[in-house]
Amino acid sequence: MNIIFLGPPGAGKGTQAQRLERDHGWVQLSTGDMLRAASAAGTELGRKARSIMDTGELVPDEVMAGIISERLDDVRDGFVLDGFPRTLAQAEFLDGALADRNMSIDAVIEFTFEEEALVRRLSGRFACANCGAVYHDAFKPPQNAGECDHCRGCEFERRTDDEPDAVRNRLEVYRRQTEPLLPYYRDKGMLKSVDGMAAVDAVTQQIEAIVGPG
Ligand code: AP5
Repeated sequence: MNIIFLGPPGAGKGTQAQRLERDHGWVQLSTGDMLRAASAAGTELGRKARSIMDTGELVPDEVMAGIISERLDDVRDGFVLDGFPRTLAQAEFLDGALADRNMSIDAVIEFTFEEEALVRRLSGRFACANCGAVYHDAFKPPQNAGECDHCRGCEFERRTDDEPDAVRNRLEVYRRQTEPLLPYYRDKGMLKSVDGMAAVDAVTQQIEAIVGPG
């Protein structure tokens, strides 16, 4: 299946996309991860993106269109778009890029949220520096403290855009630029919702009920 996740920072999109990839093999396409990888590699794109991401603003649409186009050809057995599209221009670009490839979206899943809970989630988030598995100080610590459940790595990192000022701006940007995508997909009859504030396993169950055995 080809799925879009829509939701604000901290709603759990990445956590659930990793689970769908693990359980169904649908490739997680996280534009945030792609930009962070470019930044870590020190490319020109990465340097420019990093300065924008640290403030919580969005990277320009044309840059994102180029990044996502490169990946669509490799994911013909299913994908989960995690962080794209984020603007109406990106959604319209995606429609065209998929049509050009005889591909389509099967479901758009919205994560509903409460703002205060998002801030708590982001302030406790950290990830394995080796494989990127995402954890939380309170809600999802590794099974053995200090050791990644997936790759046994012992180094972890926190995102600079999870600082409170950047989080506030990311939420504002979400409301202004990304929420208009909800009516866009609702009008196409594609939009489904899950309770993003439920426990991780409960959210997974709601998503599985939408996507079916796949
Ligand atoms: P991106 O990396 O996409 O960040 P985001 O959308 O802001 O989303 P997050 O990764 O913060 O949250 P998430 O919903 O994935 O939550 P997670 O599962 O990690 O984008 C970063 C930046 O890149 C943007 O600000 C922008 O600058 C740029 N960018 C990216 N894409 C772009 C685009 N298309 N156009 C322009 N610019 C773009 O969970 C969060 C925490 O909560 C974790 O610790 C997790 O363990 C915990 N958690 C998850 N689910 C639950 C649960 N159900 N209960 C309790 N805890 C939970």
